[in-house]
Amino acid sequence: MKKKNVKDLLAWYSENKRDLPWRHTKDSYKIWISETMLQQTRVETVIPYYERFLKNLPTVSSLAKIHEDELLKLWEGLGYYSRARNLQKAAKILYENGFDFLPPIKEVLQSLPGIGPYTVGAVLSIAYDISEPAIDGNVMRVLSRIYEEKEDILKPKIREKYRLILQDLMKDEKASDFTQSFIELGALVCTRNPSCGVCPLKSCCKAYQHQTISLYPMKKVKKEKPIFKKTAFLFKYNNVYMIHKRDSEGLLANLYEIPNVDSFFTVDEVQEYLQTKHIFYENLQEIGEVKHVFSHQIWIIKVYFVSLQEKICHELFVSSKEIQEKYSLPTVFQKVWTLQKEKNQKLF
Ligand code: ADE
Repeated sequence: MKKKNVKDLLAWYSENKRDLPWRHTKDSYKIWISETMLQQTRVETVIPYYERFLKNLPTVSSLAKIHEDELLKLWEGLGYYSRARNLQKAAKILYENGFDFLPPIKEVLQSLPGIGPYTVGAVLSIAYDISEPAIDGNVMRVLSRIYEEKEDILKPKIREKYRLILQDLMKDEKASDFTQSFIELGALVCTRNPSCGVCPLKSCCKAYQHQTISLYPMKKVKKEKPIFKKTAFLFKYNNVYMIHKRDSEGLLANLYEIPNVDSFFTVDEVQEYLQTKHIFYENLQEIGEVKHVFSHQIWIIKVYFVSLQEKICHELFVSSKEIQEKYSLPTVFQKVWTLQKEKNQKLF
């Protein structure tokens, strides 16, 4: 790839870029929030979250001060909740050190929780026009095709090779446009199913010239995700439902869940389980199954509806409205909740 190709890419970007909310700002805090949300999550999903998040938490200090439960509620449904917790940890560090923005200093950004080389590059280049490349999976896909990269693109050594190449190419350009033009090309043209005909980089793309596009990026054989079977109980007493705060460690830490146990239970097993726990109920009904795919595992949950004779001691019972407005149920339990709502409408 030569400087001339960069010019072609930038011209393409200026003609074809999408009008996205974070493209109207140079505020380092807002860029940081958008780039963190955009990791692992699609643009269309992010937009409403981004706007609501910044309306509620417009500054580093507001993020540093918000209660974790409220923060997780703003993040509910986006997944990878450690992103939200790390945002707050980093905001607290910035706030305690007197910053209400992300300073344009690579070493400071690198030292903050949750900020890896991609985010450092994105914030420095997009907010400050500093020549620091931002290389995520989409950018690596573009590069692996341009250069017919044979090695595993997840290797740090390979990332570093391309960081140096991009750094040199972006030196005389507007860094924010350079970074976003690669991201945009990866999102709109050089996709899994690429539209090479309209690509501004086809004249320098080795894979295009050799008709080997489908081979890149080279894939490592993926490990199968383990499947975990679970049983969830929708305990209802009058018009309130039991939810439970998860542990502060591990998957979905500190979020709320619909009570559940490991493994599938038959109706008989559920009855026995409820008896041993001294839970007295009026009605017990299996209402279906829910499947949720996480990044490293799959859950299949069998769901039982249990209407109770009395509340279970020391447990939290909340209304349907509170579940929607106050408590953050991760997507997997939203699915259980939705199943319950659909089935209840049919049953009662
Ligand atoms: N994905 C990651 N960063 C992005 C950005 N700035 N614009 C659009 N999609 C993105």
